[in-house]
Amino acid sequence: MEKLIINGGRRLGGELCVHGAKNSVLPILAATLLIKGESVIHNVPNLTDVDASIGILEYLGAKVKRENDTIIINAGEIAKNTIPEDMMREMRSSIIFLGSLLSRTKEAYICYPGGCDIGVRPIDLHLSSLRKLGASIAESGNCLCCKAPSFHGAKIILTFPSVGATENIIIAAALSKGKTTIINAAREPEISDLAAFLNSCGARIFGAGEGTIEIEGVEGLKPCEHTIIPDRIVAATYMGAAAMNADELTINDIRTQHLAPILPAFMEMGCKLYFDKNSLKITSPKRLKRVKLIKTMPYPGFPTDCQSIVMAALTKSAGTTLINESIFEGRFKHISELNRFGADITVNDRTAIINGVKSLYGANVFSTDLRGGAAMVLAALAAEGRSTISNIYHIDRGYEKLEENLALIGADIKRINDEKEDRESPKKE
Ligand code: UD1
Repeated sequence: MEKLIINGGRRLGGELCVHGAKNSVLPILAATLLIKGESVIHNVPNLTDVDASIGILEYLGAKVKRENDTIIINAGEIAKNTIPEDMMREMRSSIIFLGSLLSRTKEAYICYPGGCDIGVRPIDLHLSSLRKLGASIAESGNCLCCKAPSFHGAKIILTFPSVGATENIIIAAALSKGKTTIINAAREPEISDLAAFLNSCGARIFGAGEGTIEIEGVEGLKPCEHTIIPDRIVAATYMGAAAMNADELTINDIRTQHLAPILPAFMEMGCKLYFDKNSLKITSPKRLKRVKLIKTMPYPGFPTDCQSIVMAALTKSAGTTLINESIFEGRFKHISELNRFGADITVNDRTAIINGVKSLYGANVFSTDLRGGAAMVLAALAAEGRSTISNIYHIDRGYEKLEENLALIGADIKRINDEKEDRESPKKE
């Protein structure tokens, strides 16, 4: 099994580029099932979750070519309407194939999706919304038998602005008969990117990025070229690394407005932020300050995906920070691992209390999930001595060449296989 070995305590600096957004590309790949022609998607990161989506598309009968960061999908012929359980369980986003597969083949047989273990993660909102659009869905054990001879427009009120459910509705409604209105829709930038892709194909989706989205169903969609937006969570991860370890770091290929929800936290930590068109320069103070309170919320609130990243940065701040996780009840698994570095974090229900410490020390830790793994990397970079991070397959789901990029800005980080592991214990250097 692969691991990351990090010798921490080095000052980082220089420039990094942010790759395309995982959470945009996954629903867009699913949406290409609606298009009987060649969709060309640019700025696609090389991630295992992207490979898993391509695997599903190919299994269903699509032809997929990859040329560097461009993926060309020809979904002209779709031969199957089932997705095997192992493919469904590889990632949470496999559920987004339900809307697109049903729209395309009128029947779909799938199992419950997998994904990071960060809470219960039900799919009730996906299923009830698709039912409103005309699908009949029978649940039997872990499997779903779904039929939708024709989707029709509907008014759907989401009890929570679920990102995935909003995406499934948009995709399913794009070729439906009539108008669909989503009330309390998710407003994340990735929703707008999905709508932009589908609208370029001829869909009529209005209001994406706002709380109410209207979709006027169209008869057919034509192929288009689309460039994925930059990954705001990767940008936030680099900001976290800079806050902890860099005097100055420039992060290129960002969309400033997508980072707005996290900027106040970094400013409160004492970082200085300088924006230039599509890039951001961040400088950090000698010691980070605490942030009084951070509460994760749906966009444009503070993103749950940045919670562990900012928490890692705050482990070395001066003072006490409270972080309340309101989106996923199980998203604190990284805390016990952060404490192995010498951090002082306790949990009271859904609030983490981070008492900043002066130093972190190298440790052997596990990636608990994708963003939890990123938090381990940040803590290890800032820790004195050598750290080993296991279960890095979580990190590979959402970060392309993370260690290569961090090495470019001065980190001492390498990926090893178990066989090659040198058995030095932590804190030796
Ligand atoms: C997406 C993102 C993920 C991010 C999350 C919240 C992708 C691939 N993943 O996940 O990185 O952390 O948004 O910003 O885009 N819920 C229900 N019933 C449902 C659906 C969701 O109760 O049918 C609940 C979830 O358990 C959770 C909350 O709603 O508590 C948010 O989930 P949702 O917005 O759907 O997240 P995902 O789409 O899974």
